[in-house]
Amino acid sequence: MAQASVTRRYRFCAAHRLHTDHLSPKDNQTVFGKCNNPNGHGHNYVVLVTVKSEDPTATGGRMDLDRLDRTVGQQVITRFDHRDLNQDPEFAHCTTTGENLVLLIWDLLVQSLPAGQLEKVGLIETRDNYFEYAGAVGMLNDKC
Ligand code: NI
Repeated sequence: MAQASVTRRYRFCAAHRLHTDHLSPKDNQTVFGKCNNPNGHGHNYVVLVTVKSEDPTATGGRMDLDRLDRTVGQQVITRFDHRDLNQDPEFAHCTTTGENLVLLIWDLLVQSLPAGQLEKVGLIETRDNYFEYAGAVGMLNDKC
């Protein structure tokens, strides 16, 4: 049976600094450029959460968006909004790149939503930078 999906948009503002202790200060500067500025900088992040719609026979295909909003609010927005991402425990040994952040958001949501419901997470960091992920859990920990 055809199953539609729905994507909902969320926002948070956060600071970060791209830096890794694995590189020298000079190499950090070379790799991350102005994003390595010791004082950090901020982004107005947009999170695009795509979920499968529910069984059409039960609900007419209407997803419980209130529930989704609560989950994203509790798991993602409250955790990151107006925070310094570099201080988040999950980033203690990981650089706060968009790639890594979208992996973490996926993990936080996929473990809080009904099994199989989450289809994809997108993360807009800047006008020109968009990241997305859909896949296995725990990839951030594997990388760091
Ligand atoms: Ni940045």
